[in-house]
Amino acid sequence: MTKKSIVAEKRNYRVKLVDDAKKIASEYLKNIELSKVVRFGLPEIDDRYHCWRVPLVSQNKTNIGEIVIDAFSSLVSEKKTTQKKVLESRLLGRKTGKRKKRTNDIPKISNLRNTIGLGDSEALLTETPLESVDLIFTSPPYYNARPEYSDFITYEEYLLKMRKIIHQCHRVLNEGRFFVLNISPVLVRRASRSESSKRIAVPFDFHRLFIEEGYEFIDDIIWVKPEGAGWATGRGRRFSADRNPLQYKPVPVTEYLLVYRKKTDKLIDWHIRKHPDKEIVRQSKVQDGYEVTNIWKIHPAHNKAHPAVFPVELAEKVITYYSFINDVILDPFAGTGTVGKAASNLKRRFVLFEINSEYIQYIKNNIDKWQNTDVSSINWINSESVSYQLNFNLE
Ligand SMILES: C[S@@+](CC[C@H](N)C(=O)[O-])C[C@H]1O[C@@H](n2cnc3c(N)ncnc32)[C@H](O)[C@@H]1O
Repeated sequence: MTKKSIVAEKRNYRVKLVDDAKKIASEYLKNIELSKVVRFGLPEIDDRYHCWRVPLVSQNKTNIGEIVIDAFSSLVSEKKTTQKKVLESRLLGRKTGKRKKRTNDIPKISNLRNTIGLGDSEALLTETPLESVDLIFTSPPYYNARPEYSDFITYEEYLLKMRKIIHQCHRVLNEGRFFVLNISPVLVRRASRSESSKRIAVPFDFHRLFIEEGYEFIDDIIWVKPEGAGWATGRGRRFSADRNPLQYKPVPVTEYLLVYRKKTDKLIDWHIRKHPDKEIVRQSKVQDGYEVTNIWKIHPAHNKAHPAVFPVELAEKVITYYSFINDVILDPFAGTGTVGKAASNLKRRFVLFEINSEYIQYIKNNIDKWQNTDVSSINWINSESVSYQLNFNLE
């Protein structure tokens, strides 16, 4: 064992070996399209900050920066890593002190076409081009505390997986654009009469992940389901029978929509003023009858094919308020494709990733009901009957 791997072992780091650090760093360089021109120095552990530092050198062996990897989570810390622009300037031998203001500083228009991918979104997102989507709206898989029903061994494992996907989402999201997350606390039922049920405050743990991954908190919207959402848990019934104080437990009838924005120094106004198509901006204006407060009353949706769908009305509101016509809307946990349907109805493009082939099949069977979508032009990824290729064709 090397000294580095002994330290890594002792600290219980996920990234234990020099080779692990190099592999993560080389994936990162591939993503920022610099893998052909940048080489690595020898990665070092910095156990004061619990990270690996991978030095970057140019072809002529000049040091041009470093990639910093969180040793616990194995994620690249983009805040601490030398920025792509700086690396490029240094490779070209330019001074990086004062940058001239760019005159052609306009929002990027994505050239992705409608895409539906079968697979783990963490992997599919690494194949998705940098800054190619304009809005992310999703509801993540639930953490199920009972191991027999859960894909995740512990809650920490679950959060780590979610962090990796949120991290990749940050890479593919366009500058200053929004990530809206539908989420609510999870109820863990009691295993026996001698135990009590528990609620895990999942939204608040996600909030921390978003802030750490480079998003800024914008709003919390409360989705109220007039019919209630938790009667099945028996919470309401039990209390109404006994009425003992301390045993009070309200029936949950809400979920959150947490709104985040990819950090930027640009004002929102910049996206509107500098949008290259003024007609699109005009057509995208939000019509009368929009939600004025952060309490939205919307009936929940049910679908025999999936246990946890959200209503298309909810997705349509989010898409109307947080994107322009023709924008690309991503849902990394697409389920039955509600976000795709809403995007399509509202003349936006969509990118949907889903790990369960039954739901991809459901989407295939129902997509002809979506408005404005030419089914034959969809880019299907890993979907047996259509294509096996990971293939992000441009328009
Ligand atoms: C809460 S559901 C989303 C339902 C969706 N909003 C709808 O209306 O149909 C979460 C979905 O994420 C999928 N999923 C879980 N882990 C995934 C992963 N790593 N990559 C892609 N999809 C995943 C699940 O199969 C599930 O369909």
